Amino acid sequence: MNVYFDNAATTPLHNEVIALMHQTAINMFGNPSSSHSFGRKSRAAIEQARKTIAKYLNASPLEIIFTSCGTESNNMVLKMGIQKHNIKHIVISEIEHKCVLNTAEEICNKQDVELHILKVNKLGHLKINDLSSLLERLEGKVLVSIMHANNEIGTIADIKKIGSICKVNNALFHSDTVQTIAHYPFDVKDIEVDFISGSAHKFHGPKGVGFLYMKQNVKVDALIQGGGQERNLRSGTENLLSIIAMEKALQVSIENMQTWRTQIEDIKKYFKTQLTAEIDGISFNGDQENCLYTVLSVSFPERFHTDMFLFNLDIKGIAVSGGSACSSGANKGSHVISAIGIPENRQSIRFSFSHYNTKKEVDYVIEILKSLEKN
Ligand SMILES: Cc1ncc(COP(=O)(O)O)c(C=O)c1O
Repeated sequence: MNVYFDNAATTPLHNEVIALMHQTAINMFGNPSSSHSFGRKSRAAIEQARKTIAKYLNASPLEIIFTSCGTESNNMVLKMGIQKHNIKHIVISEIEHKCVLNTAEEICNKQDVELHILKVNKLGHLKINDLSSLLERLEGKVLVSIMHANNEIGTIADIKKIGSICKVNNALFHSDTVQTIAHYPFDVKDIEVDFISGSAHKFHGPKGVGFLYMKQNVKVDALIQGGGQERNLRSGTENLLSIIAMEKALQVSIENMQTWRTQIEDIKKYFKTQLTAEIDGISFNGDQENCLYTVLSVSFPERFHTDMFLFNLDIKGIAVSGGSACSSGANKGSHVISAIGIPENRQSIRFSFSHYNTKKEVDYVIEILKSLEKN
């Protein structure tokens, strides 16, 4: 049996997305910058996709910029926002995705910008008071980048509260929302947020396309220069096919959001119950009360601890992750798992679900896990 429990790494394309991509690839190829009818058709489709994304976020289409992925969106905010806003400090948490952490570190190593990394508690939450007291004492413009939901442990941050603290302190606020876009409703008017990032492959769209929401009065410098596409911020002929596919993936996710959520929650609950009943000494990482419904990070006792754990699951057809997808394979310890204080002798596995998963798959995974237990 093959079981794909790695949906936080990436999701399979939805059938409707595949069908639309197929049709679009045949019927639409004009360069969106061309003024003839082929180009106009492509331009109209791109602007419609922008409108759809903006509507979902309760934003204006002018506030949406298409990018190549979540990593690019996050880089754009951090790297290109610095000069425009004369940023003197970047504030992040210690469990940000590497594309925020490494980027922020590099900027602060090379430029006259100070980096502040906030600690998290064992559930993966930063202390709100740490953030507010830091912002109160910092001088000069600050950019705060705190992720909405952690991709490894699923803990969801209160970005509404964080946004209002940033607002009071006149700091810019970016949230990496890659794991929550299309899985939860969004209203950027309800959160004091200046930037958020999305990535299509996390919600059954294709890889290699994403977007950045950027509040209208907030500006960044151009990431890529050239023909002036994407309001002069990211030149280069638009990835027409993928942008249209991302719109479709978002539409399908919105239409099915509640149904899929109920299904996935049911699978996750069943998995937790079975794990607790069948395997002694496991525990769950992250804040179980405020957690992505798609993610379950499990800490296994020492008797499972073997370098071959992920490999053995893979041999049995089970795809999971031993940390962030982006660093899995590198065989390096996870900065998130260590930040929340999980001892080194415990192995953490992230199981992450989509509506395609079934309870039968859960039963199979439990059976295999039991067989991997050392006696
Ligand atoms: C929280 C988070 N941010 C950013 C990214 C990077 O997104 P992309 O793969 O689209 O570059 C990921 C992907 O794993 C993620 O989970």
